[in-house]
Amino acid sequence: NKVKHIATLAVPPAYIEQLDFYTNPARAELIKKIKQTKSELEILDISQHIGRLRMVKQPIEIAAIQKAIDITAKTLKPLTKQKKLAKFKYEYEIEAELNKGFRLGGGSGHAFDPIVACGSNACTIHYVANNDQLTAGDFIIIDVGAEYDHYAADITRTVIIGQPNRRQQAVYDAAEEVQNYAFSLLKPGVLMREYEEKIEKYMGEKLRELNLIKTITHEDVRKYFPHATSHFLGLNAHDAGDYNHPLEPGVVLAVEPGIYIPEEGIGVRIEDNVVIGQKSLKILTKKMPKGI
Ligand code: GLY
Ligand code: MN
Repeated sequence: NKVKHIATLAVPPAYIEQLDFYTNPARAELIKKIKQTKSELEILDISQHIGRLRMVKQPIEIAAIQKAIDITAKTLKPLTKQKKLAKFKYEYEIEAELNKGFRLGGGSGHAFDPIVACGSNACTIHYVANNDQLTAGDFIIIDVGAEYDHYAADITRTVIIGQPNRRQQAVYDAAEEVQNYAFSLLKPGVLMREYEEKIEKYMGEKLRELNLIKTITHEDVRKYFPHATSHFLGLNAHDAGDYNHPLEPGVVLAVEPGIYIPEEGIGVRIEDNVVIGQKSLKILTKKMPKGI
């Protein structure tokens, strides 16, 4: 009752149409309560300050993220070996093995709903049902991360039971080239908006080479790559951060280009976690092998 201002986080919209998501109503409820206490209180939004603080990680935070990554990689790597992979019949069997490995490895569990998506399921970006049968010869996207000491890992690998055909290999190689291009851009001072725009163009060239699009426009590219390449990573898999603020040393990001072709039942995503350094980029997910 004595104060004039309260600093908190702004209320998000109740429903986000593009994502078909309802947001958590807790913040709106909190602000309602504050206003009921004293209607003339001025409510200040400190989201941007929190974002700026959270996007730059201290060494102790990077160590926790590294541990979450190591638990994830140690669990995921053996599951993606052909002999082991070929024994799984359903998507959820892989999910269950991941859960076991994360808990036994010292993690508190999954940092977010795990995605194990075979064939055209991989074209649903946040497919979390993980109920379908695994089909040999179809790509399987595994997008998972353990949580350790409240910090998240976020790794995606695209694997197959059997051998990829030429088309699948070409789509995979294109996604990997886009990821390497993204790595080459990440330095202090870079603006995320400009980074995403450059990648969109580069991805457009790859999609054209794959005969998926004829012209490189935002609409054309987003038809096959409908999400951002990078997000902040930390206390949340999609951590708080200021996307309008230039990158600085200590910023931890997920780098996850994907190509999704529903008409061909092909979905590919490759996701690694990196920390921006003064001079060079450090890839934190090196222990998790790449390739199909
Ligand atoms: N790993 C899921 C996501 O980044 O949305
Ligand atoms: Mn991610």
